[in-house]
Amino acid sequence: VSRPVRIGLLGAGTVGRGFLELLGRNACSIEERTGLALEVVKVLVRDPRRERPGVARSLLTADGESIVHGACDVVVEALGGIEPARSLLAQALEHGKPVVTANKALLASEAGSALRGHARHEASIAAAIPIVRALEEGLVGDQVSELTGILNGTCNFVLTLMAETGATLEATLAEARARGFAEADPSLDVDGHDAAQKLALLAELAFGVRAGRVRVEGIRGIEPEDVKAARALGYVLKPVAFARDGGESLELRVHPAFVPLSHPLASVRFEDNAVLVRAAGAGELLFRGKGAGALPTASALLADVVAVARGEPARRIERPAPPKEPVRGAPPAGRSRYYLRFPVYDVPGVIGRIATALGRREVSISHAEATLAPEKPGQGHVKVLAHETSDEALREALEDIERLPVLTGRSVAVRILA
Ligand SMILES: NC(=O)c1ccc[n+]([C@@H]2O[C@H](COP(=O)([O-])OP(=O)(O)OC[C@H]3O[C@@H](n4cnc5c(N)ncnc54)[C@H](OP(=O)(O)O)[C@@H]3O)[C@@H](O)[C@H]2O)c1
Repeated sequence: VSRPVRIGLLGAGTVGRGFLELLGRNACSIEERTGLALEVVKVLVRDPRRERPGVARSLLTADGESIVHGACDVVVEALGGIEPARSLLAQALEHGKPVVTANKALLASEAGSALRGHARHEASIAAAIPIVRALEEGLVGDQVSELTGILNGTCNFVLTLMAETGATLEATLAEARARGFAEADPSLDVDGHDAAQKLALLAELAFGVRAGRVRVEGIRGIEPEDVKAARALGYVLKPVAFARDGGESLELRVHPAFVPLSHPLASVRFEDNAVLVRAAGAGELLFRGKGAGALPTASALLADVVAVARGEPARRIERPAPPKEPVRGAPPAGRSRYYLRFPVYDVPGVIGRIATALGRREVSISHAEATLAPEKPGQGHVKVLAHETSDEALREALEDIERLPVLTGRSVAVRILA
């Protein structure tokens, strides 16, 4: 009988406790399937004296170095943040111990970049969805050209609940926090930075290059009015992350989008995540599931622990002809169809003035309507669907329109996904 695989677990918060719970439930079946007996031998926390349901007090320690230098075979990191996670993982690797992490912020940071390719990190992107494995292993023989994802569960939850109830972004975000989805700092979710970190990591796996700048637009300006308009026009508003390898350039962007109801991402609701992969050989693949939560994240961590215990360490895709310049420059200005909303005073000819300003920049219109804002007498909205236009032309047109005396606030521009 081989000896158990001894796991040093860093963190006993949501994810750490989920890991202990799932391992407790599944240790026997994992051993039956893989021949590996997995056992947690130490758990790092800040305060080892605190009672933690489901965690034996004798396992707890506040001394991280004793874990990474001590008698364990694998280190699993579920602390979050940069330090001490980074230095403990680096020390574990120096001691020849494989490491598994759920920490996307660390991997995406400059400080954590040395860990990429050395730490297995399935749990760090879209939790339970095995997208890292799919890109590293399942598609290693293929050429991925495009990824379109819903990578932030909080934003998807917020936009889904806005569509269901007509409530505001602030109210639905509060609900997401109450249910424990939202990041402690809401701007990581709402302003798109969390999705951008995940997209950059996925693009690196998919295209084998360090991702450059991600163009990020959050969902902060979105109002119930926009969610309602999407539905009326045959779309659903989703927080989308998009990466395309255009050969010479890599296009990476995160933004809200009008998604046609027939699109595979349209039915991904509430806190679920999804990634749609296009590859030359495989065609279109859709991955969908729980992108956060204790047990979904633990499921991915356990899969990585089994992989390293079987002697399959983290690996980096080596493309046959890696590009000379690994960090590619700013993406080219894109083109897209757009939904536009202008909050306006209810004055005669307002649609005409906006349409003229758009036309001057060669932004042509496929639909325009004006609606009154019942809660604001004398005010309303002009909503426009624009044919495909360059982002640059649209930006100039919006600047022109914001100088017109008819607007009561900032305009909203949302891309329409093809
Ligand atoms: N929550 C999710 O759904 C989810 C999904 C995917 C990935 N992740 C990632 O998983 C990681 C953990 O997230 P979480 O939600 O489980 O966080 P959490 O609930 O805040 O738990 C963090 C744990 O780490 C311990 N810890 C933090 N700093 C420490 C330090 N300096 N020294 C010793 N112990 C320390 C805490 O100890 P105390 O208990 O003593 O405070 C706590 O047990 C993060 O990287 C997160 O991004 C989370």
